[in-house]
Amino acid sequence: MSDLSGRTTIVVGASRGLGYGVATAFAEAGAPVVAVSRTAADFPEPANGSGTIHPEIADAGAATSVASLLDRHEPEVITLVAGATPHMRPLQQQTWETFSVNWESDVRMTFHWLREILLKPLRPGSRVVVVSSGAAIGGSPLSGGYAGAKATQRFITSYAQDEARRAGLDITFTTILPRFAPETGVGEPAVRAYAASAGKSVDEFLEPQRPLLTPRIAGDALVDLVRTDPADLKPAYMLTGGGLQQLP
Ligand SMILES: NC(=O)c1ccc[n+]([C@@H]2O[C@H](COP(=O)([O-])OP(=O)(O)OC[C@H]3O[C@@H](n4cnc5c(N)ncnc54)[C@H](OP(=O)(O)O)[C@@H]3O)[C@@H](O)[C@H]2O)c1
Repeated sequence: MSDLSGRTTIVVGASRGLGYGVATAFAEAGAPVVAVSRTAADFPEPANGSGTIHPEIADAGAATSVASLLDRHEPEVITLVAGATPHMRPLQQQTWETFSVNWESDVRMTFHWLREILLKPLRPGSRVVVVSSGAAIGGSPLSGGYAGAKATQRFITSYAQDEARRAGLDITFTTILPRFAPETGVGEPAVRAYAASAGKSVDEFLEPQRPLLTPRIAGDALVDLVRTDPADLKPAYMLTGGGLQQLP
């Protein structure tokens, strides 16, 4: 995977936020990128001109969309970045519907994509990266069921790796747990809510976490990850403004 040219890469959740940075970085690294989202986005021409970005408008939580995207594009790399923005409220102000938003989106998407990847299966040597959250480790008391949903994504990814090994499929699955990326759809309201609850301005709250994670940093980190020999990879990494970090 050190050379990504000709390696079709599906980025799920590419219209904005971290996924936009991931799609752009893979195209700049030379990959033909299929950028999946429910709404359209404009992408820049890849800087070195060798990669491409082909937008696909689809609901990534629908099993039929997943099967059809895999059959039409035959990817060798899949990055599952998409996720819903949680409702930032304390537990007693959640309803079951707001509490379970990320189970119905993030967990549902991960279940359908990883199941279809194993059933198809992707060709030997393929790489699958699932974006969970640092909240999966430390919790996120103002985001309802978000932290539990993101922890379940990590479990599903490790179950998929075990099933792939058992079936003799040469597919590598990795979970990424990002820290706050305050410019993006999930990060911005979360940072505002946690700063307010700590009685701090957003800048004061973020100060100890600098350098902050951005879509650009996330994109470059995932390209490096996919270029790394699978034998040298851990099952999961934290992702900060300093790039990928080993978990303790
Ligand atoms: N930002 C952070 O601080 C942070 C921290 C830890 C983890 N994360 C995780 O990182 C991921 C990205 O977060 P973000 O802040 O970059 O989010 P974002 O800016 O809100 O972007 C979410 C992306 O997912 C797509 N999407 C959502 N549901 C979809 C569906 N059913 N089908 C297809 N596309 C869908 C959205 O496109 P459409 O709406 O056009 O479909 C959009 O492109 C999420 O999984 C999040 O939980 C973020």
